[in-house]
Amino acid sequence: MADPTPNLQEIHDFLFLLAIRAGSMITSANPTLSPSTQKKNSSDLVTETDKAVEDMVSSSLKAKFPSYSFLGEETSTSGALTPAPTFIVDPIDGTTNFVHAHPYISISIAFAYERRPLVGIVYNPFTQHLYHAIHGKGAFLTAPSIPTSHPPLPSHGESKFEPVLSAYTRTRLPLKSPAPPLQGLKQALVAIEWGNERSGNNWETKTKTFSSLAGDDSTGGSMVHSLRSLGSAALNCCAVARGDLDAYWEGGCWAWDVGAGWVIVEEAGGRVVGGNEGEWKPSVDGRRYLVVRGAEGGQEQMIHEFWGALKGNL
Ligand code: IPD
Repeated sequence: MADPTPNLQEIHDFLFLLAIRAGSMITSANPTLSPSTQKKNSSDLVTETDKAVEDMVSSSLKAKFPSYSFLGEETSTSGALTPAPTFIVDPIDGTTNFVHAHPYISISIAFAYERRPLVGIVYNPFTQHLYHAIHGKGAFLTAPSIPTSHPPLPSHGESKFEPVLSAYTRTRLPLKSPAPPLQGLKQALVAIEWGNERSGNNWETKTKTFSSLAGDDSTGGSMVHSLRSLGSAALNCCAVARGDLDAYWEGGCWAWDVGAGWVIVEEAGGRVVGGNEGEWKPSVDGRRYLVVRGAEGGQEQMIHEFWGALKGNL
């Protein structure tokens, strides 16, 4: 029987270490394009590394938490989440980037209970940026510190740098605190993704939304400052949590793409809402999300403006 009171701190600490282990599998792999890298179509890719990482993560989780469920990108058939305590895993979020050696990728692991994500870990092993959050305890970035002034050079004969871990620092998100107010959609930097469905309803929704956001509105001014498509839903959520992006919208991604980022965004003061007006509490497997950064003001106005821009596209 499932543990009725999951220990979120214990889960968080285990997932943190597991993500680092998965990261070293990813950085040491050499992905190559071959016909077996395709899933549904030529823009939906999977590599042997995605499968090997998911295997390693799921067997480690089964050994440590045998009564909890598992929902993984490479093994799930429906993508649906149940109320049981569940690990939600995307072994490589940004597989297309990975195949092209573009280092904007992450491993994303969430823990959800009663269909609510409560722990989130997102790790980009190429930049060594690890984002992590537990519901109610804040969101953090643990990463190599970037020197702000010239670091001292090693003197003649010195061969060792500081051990890698001592160079890491833990920073609370958002990076700017207090988070500056949102100035409205017209002045926003927004991430929006092409995803891997290139036909059907979701494709129509996406192309209409791209076009309505990228072009001018009825007053002749542009609808947003600009759009970005970086290729990892989980890292997009983390960029919103950091405060680097004002919002992120996607139609057609899955619980494993956003489950971990969801906790990180909410713990950094941001909001995850659905695609329709008034959908303040979307489900994690709802496949259409709007994510807005934490701000001292203007958050709800931004959500309403965005919902207005989506009208007629869904
Ligand atoms: C994809 C990425 C991409 C998003 C897609 C996802 P994957 O995940 O997050 O940014 O647009 O919807 O499926 O397939 O690389 O794990």
